[in-house]
Amino acid sequence: MSQTSGAQPMTARAAGPLRGTAAVPGDKSISHRALILGALAVGETRISGLLEGQDVLDTAAAMRAFGAGVERDGPGAWRVHGVGVGGFAEPEDVIDCGNSGTGVRLIMGAMATSPVAATFTGDASLRRRPMGRITEPLARFGARAFGRAGGRLPMTLLGAADPLPVRYVLPVASAQVKSAVLLAGLNAPGETVVVEREATRDHTERMLAGFGAALRLEEAPEGRAIVLSGQPELRAQAVVVPRDPSSAAFPVCAALMVPGSEVRIPGVSRNPTRDGLYVTLAEMGAEIAFEAPRIEGGEPVADLRVRFTGALRGVEVPPGRAARMIDEYPVLAALAATAEGATVMRGIRELRVKESDRIDAMARGLAACGVRVEETEDSLTVHGMGPSGVPGGATVAVRLDHRIAMSFLCLGLAARAPVTVDDAGPIATSFPAFPDLMRGLGADLG
Ligand code: S3P
Repeated sequence: MSQTSGAQPMTARAAGPLRGTAAVPGDKSISHRALILGALAVGETRISGLLEGQDVLDTAAAMRAFGAGVERDGPGAWRVHGVGVGGFAEPEDVIDCGNSGTGVRLIMGAMATSPVAATFTGDASLRRRPMGRITEPLARFGARAFGRAGGRLPMTLLGAADPLPVRYVLPVASAQVKSAVLLAGLNAPGETVVVEREATRDHTERMLAGFGAALRLEEAPEGRAIVLSGQPELRAQAVVVPRDPSSAAFPVCAALMVPGSEVRIPGVSRNPTRDGLYVTLAEMGAEIAFEAPRIEGGEPVADLRVRFTGALRGVEVPPGRAARMIDEYPVLAALAATAEGATVMRGIRELRVKESDRIDAMARGLAACGVRVEETEDSLTVHGMGPSGVPGGATVAVRLDHRIAMSFLCLGLAARAPVTVDDAGPIATSFPAFPDLMRGLGADLG
């Protein structure tokens, strides 16, 4: 989708180095899960560092609609009074998950094995995204989904009254699908098994274990099996949400594009299922240090320091790395435009069903900025023009996609002429403080 009514255009211009400390917000994936598991636990879960982006606020509202108590005590500090596994009440109204695929898919999983009905919808972006990938496994538990053609929202899900446990081999590398099946498995008797061929983010598994669920890993012929024992009593927890490595990617890549920059990002997650961008940046020649590594709230974190040290090299990003950096391809594509040589990103078909078709959105936006790109169904190649070689001077369509907006605003800080995004509004879904945080580092965003 291009510009919407009430759109907020924003322009980024080159204005010298980025310097300082960037306190990026809490991890979006972990924030959704903390609210949902808090709602399914018995007792009061206390969350600190919760991302207060619209996606997560929509999940908080949904948990209230299913009967949990959800209260905000202060910035990032929330309390959830859970209803227990299987204790969801029937919502009185439609659940609007806004822009969030993670929100709607995880919540559908969490309710699929309770005898309640709920109708889900979202914004124009979410209503275009495929839900068949979760309704198919949820049907095996006994849930029934009634949606629009192509398995699109709005959709009503009837939870199973007598759920069966499921063994499910993921047909796509998707943490959302894996998590939906595990959350559904919570209220099924016996063992629910999810098998993944490629490791995707493991926050659901970590947090389920933290809340007291019995979970084990096994090798299966098709890959790694996660075996969950159903009907546990989840116990309320204190959850500390680390800072989001996918949000950190924007100031990090911007610092690597703008000569003279040096940026520090404290307390950012170092979860190995999320580190693909940082591996790729090292291969491109970036200087990034991870200081004071530690464990916080069951997740590895460190303080990140990044310095501009000259032109990066274009690289081939192998398909096997896609799951570990799936949300970082847009900003990598922007950075690749300022590298020397071509960056080839393969095995990224999943980007076509994100908040927008991200291969197409990046290819068109970069081309409009004067960058040579090639796309196939599942790859994108960006021909780098060096640190001060990107012409810019374009207005880019954001298509209701926060990461497309932030990626092009970062590129505008390094391009020869300003880059405008047609709507910066979607940034509020994941990183509301992005414009102020970047201005605090010295960026010219207006
Ligand atoms: C997420 C999983 C990924 C990712 C999304 C967050 C999650 O989606 O792109 O931003 O929190 O589980 P897929 O499961 O579609 O790969």
